[in-house]
Amino acid sequence: MKNKKILINSKDSNYNIYVGSNLIAQINKILKKDKINAKNFLIIYDSKVPFKIINILRKKIKENIIFHKFYSSEKNKNQKSVNKILNIMLKNNFNRNDCLIAVGGGIIGDVSAFAASIFKRGLKFINIPTTLLAQVDSSIGGKTGINSDYGKNLIGSFYQPDLVIADIKFLKYLPKRELICGYAEIFKHSIISDKKFFYFLLNNFEKIINLKKPYIDQAIYKSCFIKKKIVEKDVKEKNLRKTLNLGHTFAHSYEATYKYSKGLNHGEAVLLGINSASEFSFKKNLLNYKEYKLIINHISKINNSLKINNYFNKKDTNKLLGYIKNDKKNISKKINLILINKIGQVSYNNFFELKEISKFIRNQFL
Ligand code: GLY
Repeated sequence: MKNKKILINSKDSNYNIYVGSNLIAQINKILKKDKINAKNFLIIYDSKVPFKIINILRKKIKENIIFHKFYSSEKNKNQKSVNKILNIMLKNNFNRNDCLIAVGGGIIGDVSAFAASIFKRGLKFINIPTTLLAQVDSSIGGKTGINSDYGKNLIGSFYQPDLVIADIKFLKYLPKRELICGYAEIFKHSIISDKKFFYFLLNNFEKIINLKKPYIDQAIYKSCFIKKKIVEKDVKEKNLRKTLNLGHTFAHSYEATYKYSKGLNHGEAVLLGINSASEFSFKKNLLNYKEYKLIINHISKINNSLKINNYFNKKDTNKLLGYIKNDKKNISKKINLILINKIGQVSYNNFFELKEISKFIRNQFL
Protein backbone atom coordinates (compact mmCIF):
# COMPACT_ATOMS: atom_id res chain seq x y z
CA MET A 1 0.00 0.00 0.00
CA LYS A 2 1.24 3.48 -0.82
CA ASN A 3 1.59 5.91 2.07
CA LYS A 4 -1.78 7.48 2.83
CA LYS A 5 -3.14 10.56 4.49
CA ILE A 6 -6.40 10.86 6.43
CA LEU A 7 -7.77 14.29 7.24
CA ILE A 8 -9.63 14.66 10.52
CA ASN A 9 -12.03 17.50 10.05
CA SER A 10 -14.01 18.31 13.17
CA LYS A 11 -15.81 21.42 14.39
CA ASP A 12 -12.79 23.12 15.90
CA SER A 13 -9.78 21.39 14.39
CA ASN A 14 -8.27 19.91 11.26
CA TYR A 15 -5.25 17.66 11.18
CA ASN A 16 -3.70 14.96 9.06
CA ILE A 17 -2.86 11.41 10.00
CA TYR A 18 -0.12 9.99 7.81
CA VAL A 19 -0.08 6.18 7.60
CA GLY A 20 2.78 4.36 5.90
CA SER A 21 6.36 3.14 6.00
CA ASN A 22 9.48 5.21 6.48
CA LEU A 23 7.56 8.38 7.20
CA ILE A 24 10.01 9.46 9.89
CA ALA A 25 12.70 9.89 7.25
CA GLN A 26 10.42 12.42 5.55
CA ILE A 27 9.47 14.35 8.67
CA ASN A 28 10.99 17.63 7.50
CA LYS A 29 8.86 17.53 4.33
CA ILE A 30 5.72 16.62 6.30
CA LEU A 31 6.30 19.46 8.77
CA LYS A 32 6.60 21.89 5.88
CA LYS A 33 3.54 20.55 4.06
CA ASP A 34 1.43 20.69 7.21
CA LYS A 35 2.68 24.19 8.06
CA ILE A 36 4.26 23.32 11.41
CA ASN A 37 6.63 26.25 11.48
CA ALA A 38 7.85 26.06 15.06
CA LYS A 39 11.28 27.39 16.01
CA ASN A 40 11.66 25.06 19.00
CA PHE A 41 10.72 21.40 19.39
CA LEU A 42 10.59 19.32 22.54
CA ILE A 43 10.61 15.61 21.75
CA ILE A 44 9.32 13.34 24.50
CA TYR A 45 10.39 9.83 23.54
CA ASP A 46 9.88 6.43 25.02
CA SER A 47 13.03 4.86 26.48
CA LYS A 48 12.22 1.75 24.42
CA VAL A 49 12.30 3.56 21.05
CA PRO A 50 15.53 2.55 19.26
CA PHE A 51 18.24 5.19 19.34
CA LYS A 52 18.59 5.16 15.55
CA ILE A 53 15.02 6.46 15.19
CA ILE A 54 15.67 9.29 17.59
CA ASN A 55 18.79 10.04 15.57
CA ILE A 56 16.77 10.31 12.35
CA LEU A 57 14.59 12.95 14.02
CA ARG A 58 17.70 14.74 15.26
CA LYS A 59 19.13 14.88 11.73
CA LYS A 60 15.93 15.70 9.85
CA ILE A 61 14.55 18.50 12.01
CA LYS A 62 16.67 21.56 11.41
CA GLU A 63 15.26 23.76 14.14
CA ASN A 64 16.23 23.80 17.81
CA ILE A 65 15.36 20.41 19.38
CA ILE A 66 15.39 19.29 22.99
CA PHE A 67 15.01 15.58 23.78
CA HIS A 68 13.43 14.21 26.94
CA LYS A 69 13.51 10.46 27.60
CA PHE A 70 10.38 9.07 29.25
CA TYR A 71 10.16 5.73 31.05
CA SER A 72 6.56 4.95 30.31
CA SER A 73 4.46 3.12 32.87
CA GLU A 74 1.01 3.63 34.38
CA LYS A 75 2.87 4.76 37.54
CA ASN A 76 4.66 7.56 35.66
CA LYS A 77 1.49 8.70 33.95
CA ASN A 78 1.07 11.40 36.55
CA GLN A 79 1.18 15.10 37.33
CA LYS A 80 4.88 14.91 38.27
CA SER A 81 5.77 13.81 34.74
CA VAL A 82 3.58 16.56 33.28
CA ASN A 83 5.32 19.15 35.49
CA LYS A 84 8.72 17.97 34.27
CA ILE A 85 7.64 18.51 30.66
CA LEU A 86 6.13 21.91 31.44
CA ASN A 87 9.26 23.03 33.27
CA ILE A 88 11.53 22.10 30.35
CA MET A 89 9.41 24.25 28.05
CA LEU A 90 9.17 27.13 30.52
CA LYS A 91 12.92 27.08 31.16
CA ASN A 92 13.59 27.19 27.43
CA ASN A 93 11.13 29.95 26.81
CA PHE A 94 8.81 27.99 24.49
CA ASN A 95 5.85 29.90 23.11
CA ARG A 96 2.51 28.73 21.71
CA ASN A 97 3.91 28.46 18.21
CA ASP A 98 6.60 26.02 19.37
CA CYS A 99 5.95 22.33 19.28
CA LEU A 100 5.85 19.28 21.51
CA ILE A 101 6.34 15.92 19.80
CA ALA A 102 5.44 12.62 21.50
CA VAL A 103 7.27 9.55 20.19
CA GLY A 104 5.92 6.45 21.91
CA GLY A 105 2.82 4.52 22.88
CA GLY A 106 -0.46 5.59 24.42
CA ILE A 107 0.98 6.63 27.79
CA ILE A 108 3.52 9.04 26.28
CA GLY A 109 0.90 10.36 23.86
CA ASP A 110 -1.62 11.01 26.63
CA VAL A 111 0.85 12.64 29.05
CA SER A 112 2.49 14.80 26.38
CA ALA A 113 -0.83 15.87 24.88
CA PHE A 114 -2.10 16.84 28.33
CA ALA A 115 1.07 18.91 28.95
CA ALA A 116 0.64 20.52 25.50
CA SER A 117 -2.97 21.39 26.27
CA ILE A 118 -2.15 23.31 29.44
CA PHE A 119 1.18 24.91 28.46
CA LYS A 120 0.36 28.60 27.97
CA ARG A 121 -3.19 27.30 27.24
CA GLY A 122 -1.98 25.18 24.36
CA LEU A 123 1.01 24.83 22.05
CA LYS A 124 1.51 22.81 18.88
CA PHE A 125 1.43 19.08 19.36
CA ILE A 126 2.51 16.22 17.10
CA ASN A 127 1.92 12.59 17.93
CA ILE A 128 4.26 9.96 16.49
CA PRO A 129 2.70 6.74 17.82
CA THR A 130 5.10 3.80 17.93
CA THR A 131 2.78 1.04 19.13
CA LEU A 132 -0.03 -0.53 17.13
CA LEU A 133 -2.55 0.49 19.78
CA ALA A 134 -1.47 4.12 19.68
CA GLN A 135 -1.44 4.14 15.85
CA VAL A 136 -4.98 2.82 15.45
CA ASP A 137 -6.63 4.33 18.49
CA SER A 138 -5.14 6.55 21.19
CA SER A 139 -3.31 9.00 18.90
CA ILE A 140 -6.59 9.94 17.18
CA GLY A 141 -9.37 12.02 18.62
CA GLY A 142 -7.65 14.23 21.18
CA LYS A 143 -8.19 12.41 24.46
CA THR A 144 -5.38 13.34 26.85
CA GLY A 145 -4.94 12.25 30.42
CA ILE A 146 -3.02 11.20 33.48
CA ASN A 147 -3.81 8.87 36.36
CA SER A 148 -4.51 9.88 39.95
CA ASP A 149 -4.72 8.02 43.25
CA TYR A 150 -8.45 7.72 42.53
CA GLY A 151 -8.10 5.93 39.19
CA LYS A 152 -6.87 5.80 35.62
CA ASN A 153 -7.15 8.78 33.23
CA LEU A 154 -9.31 10.75 35.68
CA ILE A 155 -7.52 14.03 34.93
CA GLY A 156 -7.31 15.20 31.35
CA SER A 157 -8.64 17.28 28.53
CA PHE A 158 -9.72 17.06 24.92
CA TYR A 159 -6.89 18.53 22.88
CA GLN A 160 -6.41 17.73 19.21
CA PRO A 161 -2.94 17.20 17.76
CA ASP A 162 -1.73 19.26 14.81
CA LEU A 163 -0.43 16.15 13.11
CA VAL A 164 -0.20 12.37 13.61
CA ILE A 165 2.48 10.27 11.91
CA ALA A 166 1.85 6.51 12.10
CA ASP A 167 5.02 4.92 10.74
CA ILE A 168 4.54 1.18 10.31
CA LYS A 169 8.32 0.66 10.57
CA PHE A 170 8.10 1.10 14.35
CA LEU A 171 5.98 -2.01 14.70
CA LYS A 172 8.81 -4.43 13.94
CA TYR A 173 10.34 -3.56 17.32
CA LEU A 174 7.23 -4.71 19.22
CA PRO A 175 6.67 -8.10 20.87
CA LYS A 176 3.67 -10.10 19.66
CA ARG A 177 1.79 -9.50 22.91
CA GLU A 178 2.02 -5.75 22.33
CA LEU A 179 0.82 -6.15 18.73
CA ILE A 180 -2.20 -8.11 19.94
CA CYS A 181 -2.99 -5.20 22.25
CA GLY A 182 -3.40 -2.93 19.21
CA TYR A 183 -5.16 -5.62 17.24
CA ALA A 184 -7.84 -5.73 19.97
CA GLU A 185 -8.80 -2.12 19.17
CA ILE A 186 -8.74 -2.78 15.41
CA PHE A 187 -11.09 -5.72 15.97
CA LYS A 188 -13.29 -3.49 18.14
CA HIS A 189 -13.53 -0.89 15.36
CA SER A 190 -14.67 -3.55 12.89
CA ILE A 191 -17.45 -4.78 15.19
CA ILE A 192 -18.61 -1.21 15.77
CA SER A 193 -18.99 -0.21 12.18
CA ASP A 194 -17.79 -2.40 9.34
CA LYS A 195 -18.82 -5.99 8.69
CA LYS A 196 -16.66 -6.27 5.57
CA PHE A 197 -13.62 -5.17 7.55
CA PHE A 198 -14.57 -7.70 10.27
CA TYR A 199 -14.36 -10.53 7.70
CA PHE A 200 -11.10 -9.09 6.36
CA LEU A 201 -9.69 -9.39 9.89
CA LEU A 202 -11.05 -12.92 10.35
CA ASN A 203 -9.39 -14.00 7.09
CA ASN A 204 -6.09 -12.17 7.53
CA PHE A 205 -5.37 -12.15 11.26
CA GLU A 206 -2.08 -14.12 11.00
CA LYS A 207 -0.77 -11.90 8.20
CA ILE A 208 -1.68 -8.73 10.07
CA ILE A 209 -0.10 -9.84 13.33
CA ASN A 210 3.04 -10.90 11.43
CA LEU A 211 3.15 -7.42 9.87
CA LYS A 212 2.77 -8.72 6.30
CA LYS A 213 2.20 -6.08 3.67
CA PRO A 214 -0.26 -4.85 2.49
CA TYR A 215 -2.46 -6.43 5.22
CA ILE A 216 -0.98 -4.54 8.17
CA ASP A 217 -1.14 -1.22 6.30
CA GLN A 218 -4.75 -1.84 5.28
CA ALA A 219 -5.76 -2.81 8.82
CA ILE A 220 -4.20 0.34 10.29
CA TYR A 221 -5.60 2.61 7.60
CA LYS A 222 -9.13 1.21 7.86
CA SER A 223 -9.08 1.33 11.64
CA CYS A 224 -7.97 4.98 11.65
CA PHE A 225 -10.64 5.74 9.07
CA ILE A 226 -13.41 4.21 11.21
CA LYS A 227 -12.26 6.21 14.21
CA LYS A 228 -12.04 9.38 12.10
CA LYS A 229 -15.68 9.03 11.04
CA ILE A 230 -16.77 8.68 14.66
CA VAL A 231 -14.70 11.42 16.29
CA GLU A 232 -15.51 13.92 13.55
CA LYS A 233 -19.18 13.60 14.47
CA ASP A 234 -18.72 13.63 18.24
CA VAL A 235 -15.34 14.80 19.57
CA LYS A 236 -16.45 15.23 23.18
CA GLU A 237 -18.07 11.78 23.54
CA LYS A 238 -21.58 13.08 24.06
CA ASN A 239 -23.16 10.33 21.96
CA LEU A 240 -21.68 8.39 19.00
CA ARG A 241 -18.09 8.34 20.35
CA LYS A 242 -19.38 6.28 23.28
CA THR A 243 -19.49 3.34 20.85
CA LEU A 244 -15.67 3.30 20.92
CA ASN A 245 -16.02 2.06 24.48
CA LEU A 246 -17.33 -1.29 23.31
CA GLY A 247 -16.09 -3.89 25.81
CA HIS A 248 -14.27 -1.24 27.84
CA THR A 249 -16.59 -1.08 30.88
CA PHE A 250 -15.84 -4.74 31.53
CA ALA A 251 -12.22 -4.35 30.39
CA HIS A 252 -11.48 -1.58 32.87
CA SER A 253 -12.79 -3.67 35.74
CA TYR A 254 -10.66 -6.61 34.56
CA GLU A 255 -7.43 -4.65 34.31
CA ALA A 256 -8.10 -2.71 37.53
CA THR A 257 -8.60 -6.00 39.41
CA TYR A 258 -5.15 -6.98 38.06
CA LYS A 259 -3.87 -3.59 39.29
CA TYR A 260 -2.91 -2.72 35.69
CA SER A 261 -0.08 -5.24 35.93
CA LYS A 262 1.56 -7.25 33.17
CA GLY A 263 -0.61 -10.19 34.27
CA LEU A 264 -3.36 -8.79 32.04
CA ASN A 265 -2.51 -5.95 29.66
CA HIS A 266 -4.99 -3.45 28.25
CA GLY A 267 -5.50 -5.24 24.93
CA GLU A 268 -6.11 -8.58 26.61
CA ALA A 269 -8.59 -6.92 28.97
CA VAL A 270 -10.31 -5.34 25.93
CA LEU A 271 -10.63 -8.72 24.22
CA LEU A 272 -12.07 -10.24 27.40
CA GLY A 273 -14.35 -7.19 27.62
CA ILE A 274 -15.55 -7.62 24.01
CA ASN A 275 -16.18 -11.26 24.84
CA SER A 276 -18.35 -10.21 27.82
CA ALA A 277 -20.16 -7.49 25.85
CA SER A 278 -20.91 -10.02 23.07
CA GLU A 279 -22.25 -12.54 25.56
CA PHE A 280 -24.38 -9.87 27.23
CA SER A 281 -25.71 -8.76 23.81
CA PHE A 282 -26.49 -12.37 22.88
CA LYS A 283 -28.27 -12.99 26.18
CA LYS A 284 -30.34 -9.85 25.63
CA ASN A 285 -31.43 -11.24 22.23
CA LEU A 286 -29.72 -8.43 20.35
CA LEU A 287 -26.86 -10.33 18.74
CA ASN A 288 -27.66 -13.58 16.96
CA TYR A 289 -25.91 -16.84 17.86
CA LYS A 290 -23.97 -17.10 14.59
CA GLU A 291 -22.39 -13.66 14.90
CA TYR A 292 -21.80 -14.11 18.64
CA LYS A 293 -19.85 -17.30 17.88
CA LEU A 294 -17.86 -15.57 15.10
CA ILE A 295 -16.71 -12.93 17.59
CA ILE A 296 -15.82 -15.22 20.45
CA ASN A 297 -14.16 -17.79 18.18
CA HIS A 298 -11.93 -15.09 16.74
CA ILE A 299 -10.93 -14.01 20.24
CA SER A 300 -9.96 -17.64 20.98
CA LYS A 301 -7.94 -17.69 17.77
CA ILE A 302 -6.09 -14.53 18.78
CA ASN A 303 -5.19 -16.05 22.13
CA ASN A 304 -6.67 -19.34 23.19
CA SER A 305 -6.14 -18.71 26.88
CA LEU A 306 -8.22 -15.52 26.85
CA LYS A 307 -11.10 -16.99 28.82
CA ILE A 308 -12.65 -15.22 31.75
CA ASN A 309 -12.25 -18.31 33.97
CA ASN A 310 -8.49 -18.29 33.38
CA TYR A 311 -8.21 -14.86 34.99
CA PHE A 312 -11.03 -14.53 37.52
CA ASN A 313 -13.36 -16.60 39.64
CA LYS A 314 -16.65 -16.09 41.45
CA LYS A 315 -14.84 -14.59 44.46
CA ASP A 316 -13.74 -11.63 42.29
CA THR A 317 -17.34 -10.62 41.48
CA ASN A 318 -17.68 -7.87 44.09
CA LYS A 319 -14.34 -6.36 43.23
CA LEU A 320 -15.22 -6.34 39.52
CA LEU A 321 -18.60 -4.77 40.27
CA GLY A 322 -16.97 -2.07 42.40
CA TYR A 323 -14.89 -0.97 39.41
CA ILE A 324 -17.85 -1.17 37.03
CA LYS A 325 -19.90 1.01 39.39
CA ASN A 326 -17.18 3.67 39.53
CA ASP A 327 -16.56 3.75 35.78
CA LYS A 328 -16.05 7.41 34.87
CA LYS A 329 -18.52 7.12 32.00
CA ASN A 330 -21.46 6.45 34.35
CA ILE A 331 -23.59 9.49 35.02
CA SER A 332 -26.30 7.84 37.08
CA LYS A 333 -26.57 4.79 39.32
CA LYS A 334 -27.31 2.68 36.26
CA ILE A 335 -24.53 1.11 34.25
CA ASN A 336 -24.16 2.20 30.64
CA LEU A 337 -23.07 -0.64 28.36
CA ILE A 338 -22.27 -0.55 24.66
CA LEU A 339 -24.03 -3.53 23.12
CA ILE A 340 -23.81 -5.23 19.74
CA ASN A 341 -26.95 -5.44 17.60
CA LYS A 342 -25.10 -7.10 14.77
CA ILE A 343 -21.55 -7.09 13.48
CA GLY A 344 -21.01 -3.58 12.18
CA GLN A 345 -23.70 -2.00 14.35
CA VAL A 346 -23.67 -1.24 18.08
CA SER A 347 -25.89 0.81 20.39
CA TYR A 348 -24.85 3.06 23.24
CA ASN A 349 -28.01 3.99 25.14
CA ASN A 350 -28.30 0.82 27.23
CA PHE A 351 -28.65 1.25 30.98
CA PHE A 352 -28.79 -1.57 33.51
CA GLU A 353 -29.20 -1.95 37.26
CA LEU A 354 -26.02 -3.08 39.00
CA LYS A 355 -27.99 -6.14 40.18
CA GLU A 356 -28.38 -7.35 36.62
CA ILE A 357 -24.68 -6.85 35.81
CA SER A 358 -23.82 -8.69 39.03
CA LYS A 359 -25.91 -11.67 37.95
CA PHE A 360 -24.29 -11.65 34.52
CA ILE A 361 -20.76 -11.56 35.92
CA ARG A 362 -21.51 -14.38 38.37
CA ASN A 363 -22.96 -16.46 35.56
CA GLN A 364 -19.82 -15.99 33.46
CA PHE A 365 -18.06 -18.19 36.03
CA LEU A 366 -20.51 -21.08 35.83
N1 GLY B 1 -10.27 5.05 22.78
C1 GLY B 1 -11.60 5.50 22.74
C2 GLY B 1 -11.75 6.92 22.30
O1 GLY B 1 -10.81 7.54 21.86
O2 GLY B 1 -12.82 7.48 22.40
